[in-house]
Amino acid sequence: MIINLFDLEKQFPVDLPEPIESYYSSGARDEVTLQRNRSIFNEYELLPRFLRDVSNIRTSCSILGNEIDMPILIAPVAMQCMAHEEGEVATAKAAHTHNTIMTQSTISNKGIEEVGLCHDKLFFQLYVSKDRPFTEEMLKRCKELGYKAIEFTVDAPRLGVRERDLRTSFKMPEHLGLGNFIGTKFEHGDIYTHSDHLFDPSLTFEAITWIKETSGLPVLVKGILRPDDAQQALGYGADGIVISNHGARQIDTAVPTLKQIEPIRTAVGPDALLLVDGGIRRGTDVLKCLALGANAVQIGRPLLWGLKHDGQKGVELVLDILKKEFIESMILSGCKNLQEITRDLVVSR
Ligand SMILES: Cc1cc2nc3c(=O)[nH]c(=O)nc-3n(C[C@H](O)[C@H](O)[C@H](O)COP(=O)(O)O)c2cc1C
Repeated sequence: MIINLFDLEKQFPVDLPEPIESYYSSGARDEVTLQRNRSIFNEYELLPRFLRDVSNIRTSCSILGNEIDMPILIAPVAMQCMAHEEGEVATAKAAHTHNTIMTQSTISNKGIEEVGLCHDKLFFQLYVSKDRPFTEEMLKRCKELGYKAIEFTVDAPRLGVRERDLRTSFKMPEHLGLGNFIGTKFEHGDIYTHSDHLFDPSLTFEAITWIKETSGLPVLVKGILRPDDAQQALGYGADGIVISNHGARQIDTAVPTLKQIEPIRTAVGPDALLLVDGGIRRGTDVLKCLALGANAVQIGRPLLWGLKHDGQKGVELVLDILKKEFIESMILSGCKNLQEITRDLVVSR
């Protein structure tokens, strides 16, 4: 029986080849951050309010001018066709059903031309290639196709090492390609085979300004963990920050993201847009992130569990479970709307 996201996680390995399951599930090196991204949620406890008339709950919000039904977004996750043949198309359709934002990875199996048709609230996640004209072309296509913003991932000057992938010799199955690279030398082969070309370790904060000017779109900087980096990114014109440790897949023992929301909010002030991801699996997790200062959260691996379970319907189920749990946690803590989810609802142990 599927009651919560962990039920889907338990089913995930069934009938999925081991190298693919470990590619999706693994974290970097000893996976210390992978465990901490989850365990930290229990180090923060709720102080629910009562007698606040919670008969009508509103979860809608606006992210960069996009009106969405809940502050729960879909994070960029690479190569989704290994979980289900419809891959990113199914995920985008599920995001459409639930009127929330999906960010599509640069390293997607389905290209932006195809995914762009499925939803009107799509962001595009960018890895800036050493081949700048190629990246420039891709950004212009995103704008033409109606993508609403760019999530510029900055925590990957090179790929983090996931030892489980080394042990299973993970490689993307040969029948799949990378949809944004058709006709280029990157079309076949995955992030592992191409990471030297796809990641530019010479990038600096100036890249933010370049992406903004080149794309003509708002830019969110994804992978920030430090208050000073957040301030600097905004100083270079970023329209928001995604607090993230890449789902614990880059540098192991990096700080769990929940811990950084409050210091980053304090550094950037009340008006800056702050998203957060990493280990969010429960409605109360979403509530805690918002109470500590995030405007919205993103989910990564759970969408893969849903995709594998039942394609588009499976991702819809994931969003449905999380939304219902979030509403439940709002009612049970005395919050009618997102503005009422304030700092005093959470204490750290
Ligand atoms: C299999 C997998 C692939 C990912 N691919 C990308 C990617 O292409 N670009 C990116 O910025 N982040 C990528 N991420 C990180 C996610 O965007 C997100 O930060 C992370 O998954 C959130 O943590 P969670 O999986 O615990 O929810 C990936 C994560 C996973 C699990």
